[in-house]
Amino acid sequence: MRRKLVVGNWKMNGDLVRNRALLEEIARQAPDEVDCAVCVPFPYLAQTQTLLSGSCVDFGAQDLGEFAEGAYTGEVSAAMLGDFGCRYVIVGHSERRSMFGEGDALVGRKALSAVRGGLIPIVCVGESLDEREAGQTERVLSRQLDAVAKAVDAEMLSRLVIAYEPVWAIGTGRAASPSQVQGVLSFIRGWLAQRTSAAGDVRILYGGSVKPESAGALFALPDSDGGLIGAASLVAAQFLGICEAAQIASRDNVRQFEGLK
Ligand code: PGA
Repeated sequence: MRRKLVVGNWKMNGDLVRNRALLEEIARQAPDEVDCAVCVPFPYLAQTQTLLSGSCVDFGAQDLGEFAEGAYTGEVSAAMLGDFGCRYVIVGHSERRSMFGEGDALVGRKALSAVRGGLIPIVCVGESLDEREAGQTERVLSRQLDAVAKAVDAEMLSRLVIAYEPVWAIGTGRAASPSQVQGVLSFIRGWLAQRTSAAGDVRILYGGSVKPESAGALFALPDSDGGLIGAASLVAAQFLGICEAAQIASRDNVRQFEGLK
């Protein structure tokens, strides 16, 4: 059975003092029946590594360079992230795609560089509002996912986490409805099934305005394995509330599974 995963995406927020309070509270209270992680800005990786050490909370970065080493001013490699104990790295977040010009092919190469470096890439895909309204959601997702499949082989594909983040739901307070989310998650699961026999093991998250109140219904969906959390991950009580919702959904899954045996 897939373990639920809740990942905080801090984006470009935080400072040493605020991080300490947030990380200490999360380290103390995060539930251990689900996987919880925070993806922090690069300069805070060392602090995060220290403060989360000995806890059940994992961590990672929000981006990485596509190259392994060399004259690439400003870039950070997968190996460097590994040096600081990162387990995850977000790749292809819509803010990087729209504001920093990252195209599908680059996102694929970054996913490859992450896997090669021993990290778990959380590959973000999602459509804009115009694309959804034009009925193009599946076409856009296929294009974004195909570019990743072109860069990595089937075995590597099974080691990714995929995050469905509709652009119109990110930071807007307007989460996609559970039925919208399930529709897309099952489309992604089907896409995976055509490429790897391990499609049933790949974790697919939803992200976009997830709050403790909405998390339960989203995490209970058949193809949902958790969430990628932006704004709410900066408030310990909210992030922990969302992790708790994942734990409840996970226990329900186990009960259903046991009932079926
Ligand atoms: P949000 O962000 O939860 O603030 O909508 C999600 C994300 O960008 O990953």
